[in-house]
Amino acid sequence: MGRLGKLIYVCGSILFLTAFSLAGYYASKMHELGEPVSDEKIPDYRYHFMLIPEELDNDYWRLVEKGARDAAEENHILLEYVGPKQSNIDEHLRKLNIAAASKVDGVLTQGYNDKQFTPVINYLANKGVPVITVDTDAPSSHRRAYIGTDNYYSGFLAGKALIDDTIGVVNVAIITGSFKAEHQKLRVKGFKDAIAKEKRINIVAIEESNITRIRAAEKAYKILSEHPETNAFYGTSALDGIGIAQSVFRLRRQDSTYIMAFDTIAETLEYIRRGVIDATVVQKPYEMGFNAVEMMIKIQEGKPVPKINYTETRIMHKNDLPDRSEEIMP
Ligand code: BGC
Repeated sequence: MGRLGKLIYVCGSILFLTAFSLAGYYASKMHELGEPVSDEKIPDYRYHFMLIPEELDNDYWRLVEKGARDAAEENHILLEYVGPKQSNIDEHLRKLNIAAASKVDGVLTQGYNDKQFTPVINYLANKGVPVITVDTDAPSSHRRAYIGTDNYYSGFLAGKALIDDTIGVVNVAIITGSFKAEHQKLRVKGFKDAIAKEKRINIVAIEESNITRIRAAEKAYKILSEHPETNAFYGTSALDGIGIAQSVFRLRRQDSTYIMAFDTIAETLEYIRRGVIDATVVQKPYEMGFNAVEMMIKIQEGKPVPKINYTETRIMHKNDLPDRSEEIMP
């Protein structure tokens, strides 16, 4: 064998040995992993539900999700949590249409806007997919039930608390999550009705935050420069109070400004503890999620469920704060 022949022989042997050992290695791995999972080994769920909120990665909706997941786990339900990353009506409606096209047994969703959501909820209902509205109702639709806060009443409570907690002239600005959302409109309406006869309380501005704390902070800043007489704020969704508090604190106006927020997520509780936010409207998002799943199971089983299911709502001040250890209030 010449030099070239030897070289070819050595390289060939190395290639052969490498291929041989790799094959052996993968064969042993396949053995370790076992056979591919057959359909029979996929856990058997009783039902498949979808929970579709207005915004997935939102601390408030994460609590609704947690409640729904706990109930799903207890009851052997496959639960999918899908929705827009950031609040967006078109994207929300698209997700509902996807649910209609897939084979889910039930849909839990925010009713958000009665007019725009009724057709798709009715479409699902006509296809035999029952819908429960959570947090926000779409009362004109064929949804089987609503579970959530009595949003008008919660706004009314906020207005009453503003009257009770303040003296003298109050110039209040409202920052609301969205002018289009049904529950936000009700929270504003309830508030306005509660203060209607109180001559010393005036509404100086009303702005929209698109449920982002940055937008709420910007709007609060704008209001405070355009209406320097503002000495109170009412934020009607979970991130509004936080945004307002940021601007009020930055402008060092916390001692002369009353803030009424919404919800009990950690940042809001912290601002109450620090005396920047004065009070907040309590909702029960965990309970909404948990009960919605249990109600949907009853519907699947042909059992009756009440149409309207209000969860508890009340006002919380600094002296009602929970211990830090139990901070996440379902
Ligand atoms: C509302 C939710 C909303 C959230 C926004 C809550 O107060 O009930 O519908 O998505 O605030 O952060």
